Amino acid sequence: MTDDKAEIKEYVRQRYGERARQAALLPVLTVDEAVCCADGTCSTDMDDSLGAFSNLYVQSELDGLPVAAVAASAGCGNPTALAGLKAGERVLDLGSGGGIDCFLAARQVGPQGHVIGLDMTPDMLALARRNAETLGVSNVEFIEGYIENIPLPEASVDVVISNCVVCLSPDKEAVASESFRVLAPGGRLHLSDIMALGPMPQEMRDDPQKWASCVSGAEEQETYLARLVKAGFVDIDITQDGDHRSQEGGLPDVISVKVVAYKPA
Ligand SMILES: C[S@@+](CC[C@H](N)C(=O)[O-])C[C@H]1O[C@@H](n2cnc3c(N)ncnc32)[C@H](O)[C@@H]1O
Repeated sequence: MTDDKAEIKEYVRQRYGERARQAALLPVLTVDEAVCCADGTCSTDMDDSLGAFSNLYVQSELDGLPVAAVAASAGCGNPTALAGLKAGERVLDLGSGGGIDCFLAARQVGPQGHVIGLDMTPDMLALARRNAETLGVSNVEFIEGYIENIPLPEASVDVVISNCVVCLSPDKEAVASESFRVLAPGGRLHLSDIMALGPMPQEMRDDPQKWASCVSGAEEQETYLARLVKAGFVDIDITQDGDHRSQEGGLPDVISVKVVAYKPA
């Protein structure tokens, strides 16, 4: 890893480590328990958390999840709602954070399926494991590692999902080729991500703070598509999914997108 890539990753790790530590201060409760909290002390925290994500997840998805998983959530879409997961499938979540999408995936693949959350931030992994314990789920595990060097064997999962993480990677080519490698033939990629609507000035790309905010690492659609094609993906579809954020100070606007791509059977 070159120095600038290492610096970006360290910045990103610090940013999301702090988010995990904040979420870990919340009570060990599920969303429905917190909302029903007798003295009302939990409801303010939950209102804040749910308010921020109400446009990404519906209430029935959030019900039963640990409040800390919802509070740590930092996605830009809802990849499991789009992935059409089936019972028994093996799912990998790149940059799983507090685990929200892993827990939603686990419900869908059921006890015969398996979900792996991969993250590089120790505090996020600790939080996600605590959340899994709160839920008592046995079909989810969280592993430490980089999405650019996935610590899993070739052809070992059916679906790769990710929520607002690829834009944070300083080596997106490696993310695409590693995702392709771990997918079984016929497997699919379902990403929620951020895309830029114009070229990102180099001085913005060099700003780790803007990068960690999911802005300056965003690429244009053409670049994104070419990378997936180069990795071997077919039937690629990229569509806008939600927010269009206007930027100031020489930054191009960014949009939330959903990305679907397949490994040939
Ligand atoms: C924006 S948060 C999204 C978390 C989760 N997907 C969600 O929707 O709440 C980004 C997460 O990806 C992790 N991450 C960022 N870059 C990574 C990388 N190169 N390898 C592994 N994990 C990474 C961070 O530690 C953080 O937990």
